[in-house]
Amino acid sequence: MFTTICMLSFCIGSEGQNAANSLKEAYKDYFMIGVAVNQRNISDAQQSDLVKREFSSMTAENDMKPASVHPAEGRWTWERADRIADFCRQNGIKLRGHTLMWHAQMCDWMFYDENHNLVTKEVLFRKMREHIHTVVNRYKDVVYCWDVFNECIADGPRRLNAEGKDQPLRESTFYKICGNDEYIRKAFEYAREADPDALLFYNDYNECDHVKRDRIYEMVKEMKAAGVPIDGIGMQGHYNIYGPSEEDIEAAVSKYAEIVDHIHVTELDIRVNREMGGQLRFSRNEGAEISNEQIEKQEAQYAAIFRVMRRHADVVDCVTFWNLSDRDSWLGSNNYPLLFDKDYNPKNVYRVVKDFNQNTGK
Ligand code: XIL
Repeated sequence: MFTTICMLSFCIGSEGQNAANSLKEAYKDYFMIGVAVNQRNISDAQQSDLVKREFSSMTAENDMKPASVHPAEGRWTWERADRIADFCRQNGIKLRGHTLMWHAQMCDWMFYDENHNLVTKEVLFRKMREHIHTVVNRYKDVVYCWDVFNECIADGPRRLNAEGKDQPLRESTFYKICGNDEYIRKAFEYAREADPDALLFYNDYNECDHVKRDRIYEMVKEMKAAGVPIDGIGMQGHYNIYGPSEEDIEAAVSKYAEIVDHIHVTELDIRVNREMGGQLRFSRNEGAEISNEQIEKQEAQYAAIFRVMRRHADVVDCVTFWNLSDRDSWLGSNNYPLLFDKDYNPKNVYRVVKDFNQNTGK
């Protein structure tokens, strides 16, 4: 009897305190909680148990990118991607597809002919279509959404073109071949043809920066109005302990929610250095200990992000951490960016995220 009462009070908690036993359970009435995985995460017993216990959605960190599955024209290397897809199938975890098209980790053979000249846009589109159809078809049964295009929008201040308009696109090889945004439109059309049921996302970083946020907003709005099948916006969420502010995250989600019904935080991590975004420019903070002040800032930043996302749970369907533990992080373990430490133990920030107070929202 005593044990039963203790267990009951543990589960219910006090004053609306969420005392769920895992992240996915704590957030089940709000949105899915996802994690980006590498091959170790799904083969090592301790790590894969953690994935199964805590997360309801998974993303392949690298193994479904074009360069991983399609290193040369007509040559497909599925093994690693298949292992991740099978792990999801076997354990009933949903799979976010990442990413069909991107300027990085792409296959150069898509852009160049055998003499290393840029191909025409017709040739590029044919190759893109074949790639997108083949990948999407292979994982249709398990992938519920795709990042169709990653990181097309330029960083930095407005750059006016000859007509006095901002040129918002990154000057990638796609852009060089096409001279406009047609490659983005085509990618979404091909993905929709291949799987009418998957949700299709445009994904980018620094998505709370006002200039970039507005560029993303304008592009998606205009494309949707023109019938391009974009269902959602992926906010990568590579933040740091100093920013973006809760107000800026709130403003970005609210703005995106005006034009799409689905928002995912696709690659959340919070580094302790001052860099931000998706480019690897930073120092990996080698050897540095994390200070109490940094820990407090990081906890406050994670709490703020999840507060915003809970407020927008009607449009936010999934929040994905970019990597399982600090040890796995692409930022280096000395950036301490995640909820689990390098030995896969939950840090205090895990409890901050999981045990939010349902009454106060804190
Ligand atoms: C990163 C991976 O985590 C690294 O292992 C790899 O070396 C480079 O790519 N934005 C994205 C992700 O959309 O695919 C990137 O992943 C991180 C930035």
